[in-house]
Amino acid sequence: MKISNDGDIDVAKVLITPDRLQQRVSELALQISQDFSETGVALVAILRGSFVFAADLIRYITIPVYVDFMSISSYGSQTGIVRITKDLDESIRGRHVLMVEDIIDTGLTASYLIQNLRRREPASIEICALLDKSARRIIDLPIKYSGFDIPDVFVVGYGMDYRQRFRNLPYIGVLAL
Ligand code: XMP
Ligand code: MG
Repeated sequence: MKISNDGDIDVAKVLITPDRLQQRVSELALQISQDFSETGVALVAILRGSFVFAADLIRYITIPVYVDFMSISSYGSQTGIVRITKDLDESIRGRHVLMVEDIIDTGLTASYLIQNLRRREPASIEICALLDKSARRIIDLPIKYSGFDIPDVFVVGYGMDYRQRFRNLPYIGVLAL
């Protein structure tokens, strides 16, 4: 039986349920609210994959929070070089920035983006990633706020896609390719 009801390619199993997602996202938000209580925090969400995570995260954050978006498309795999298709709308200079990502795989994309954002002279910059495929990492990258460590499987749902599909699933699923 198809559990995603979305064409011929389907989700093989649910990896993280909606309840576990909400529980963990609220824990991350609590930690963020404590750590940035003196300064506030500027979330920079990387589109499109992180939009659902970011939308849930900000609603659990209890301190002043600023949100901006950056949209990227990868040039090719394994290079980490990305094209910025939509840049931030405002300056992050002097702000305490938290880059919000859906998933860190090799780490190349996040590393490239962090370098790019650092040049804009934020007061500080940290990474918040919902998922971490840590076994695949090829670059050393400190992820201060990490939701779940997951195995090397292709996941979809909760904002993440396979060929632009499955972003609407309320859980994280493993794709049967
Ligand atoms: P790197 O290797 O640069 O890649 O850390 C990060 C980007 O690769 C995408 N990615 C995935 N997207 N399910 C997805 O929907 C996955 O399992 C997956 N693994 C990597 C994602 O766009 C991420 O930003
Ligand atoms: Mg992504």
